[in-house]
Amino acid sequence: METAENQASEVKSGSVPATMRAWVQGRYGTSEVFDLVDLPVPEVEGKQVLIEVHASSVNAADWHISTGYPSFVRLQMGLRTPKRKTPGGDAAGVVVAKGPEATRFALGDRVVGNIPGGGFAEYAVSNEANLVAFPETVGFAEAGALPIAGLTAIQALRTHGGVQPGQRVLVNGASGGVGTFAVQIAKILGAEVTAVCSTGNVQQARDLGADHVVDYKTQSFGDVGSGFDVILDLASSQPIKVMKSILAPSGTYLYIGGPKGNMPTWAARFARAKLAFRKGDQKLSVFTAEADDQDMSDLVSWVADGSLTPAIQRTYSLEGAMEAFDHLAAGHAKGKLVVTVR
Ligand SMILES: NC(=O)c1ccc[n+]([C@@H]2O[C@H](COP(=O)([O-])OP(=O)(O)OC[C@H]3O[C@@H](n4cnc5c(N)ncnc54)[C@H](OP(=O)(O)O)[C@@H]3O)[C@@H](O)[C@H]2O)c1
Repeated sequence: METAENQASEVKSGSVPATMRAWVQGRYGTSEVFDLVDLPVPEVEGKQVLIEVHASSVNAADWHISTGYPSFVRLQMGLRTPKRKTPGGDAAGVVVAKGPEATRFALGDRVVGNIPGGGFAEYAVSNEANLVAFPETVGFAEAGALPIAGLTAIQALRTHGGVQPGQRVLVNGASGGVGTFAVQIAKILGAEVTAVCSTGNVQQARDLGADHVVDYKTQSFGDVGSGFDVILDLASSQPIKVMKSILAPSGTYLYIGGPKGNMPTWAARFARAKLAFRKGDQKLSVFTAEADDQDMSDLVSWVADGSLTPAIQRTYSLEGAMEAFDHLAAGHAKGKLVVTVR
């Protein structure tokens, strides 16, 4: 009888070379610590699949993990040098090899998901549980824009915010990767949406469906109004007490994007938030988005049926991935920055 142990890995005939191009870093730092090198194509085991990567995208998480900043990131990612060598937590591509226990996908399936890293390479390995299949009507670039930013937006609003039809939602930081998904997903969930962004992104927020848009460059933050059932704060641009004051009596403050700065700044704002929400019916939610089958499938379905459109500002080649990385680090990405590997 054949068992998991004696089944061989399955490989798509003729499609997997011995080596691949991949971005790697040997120390913490910004784009200058990365090199595009030739590496052996990783092998799969157990429930893993090998993805021929077609698209990935840049996320704030890539920047934090690669720079080790704020410094608490290093507790998990490696004290002196980063354990993760190749960035790219998003991947969309084609399954070209399967471990002996991988059963979810067939060779040749188009898959997308939040992977532990390695998306900025020609091939990446992921546990099959992190991936969902997507149809040919969804392009690789659109799919590659989805995982981390889309999962963050859907889990913030639906899982942690519990957004219901008719509720009022504020998205502070509506023009970046997460914000552009959040505005659309809040509308899909039936909310009335107020978006905060800079002047050049006001029209984009309207086009994405925001009912009200406040330009933080030319308007007072107070113009957003008050009584929000859910606030998704991606910018940390206002004091906690201001955000609390515009929340409905039993509303939820989704604290997602930390302030600019290192540990003391992060710790101080976090402590102020915990203190401010320790009593009363208003809720504070701090979480890290994670791979989830249902959420990822819903994102793909919404893109396939046209109700969700990844706002892709620009695509970069694999060779140009560090330009995308620097663009995101400058803090004013407009929607998603996608790396098209093929
Ligand atoms: N907890 C999690 O699991 C999780 C997951 C993903 C991201 N995040 C965090 O969420 C935050 C947003 O991520 P992202 O991927 O959307 O980043 P992003 O693509 O870099 O977008 C950031 C956006 O912030 C906006 N912004 C800057 N200053 C602002 C201000 N004063 N008021 C309002 N908006 C302002 C910018 O828009 P303008 O150009 O219009 O100013 C920019 O588009 C980051 O802090 C990230 O670390 C957390």
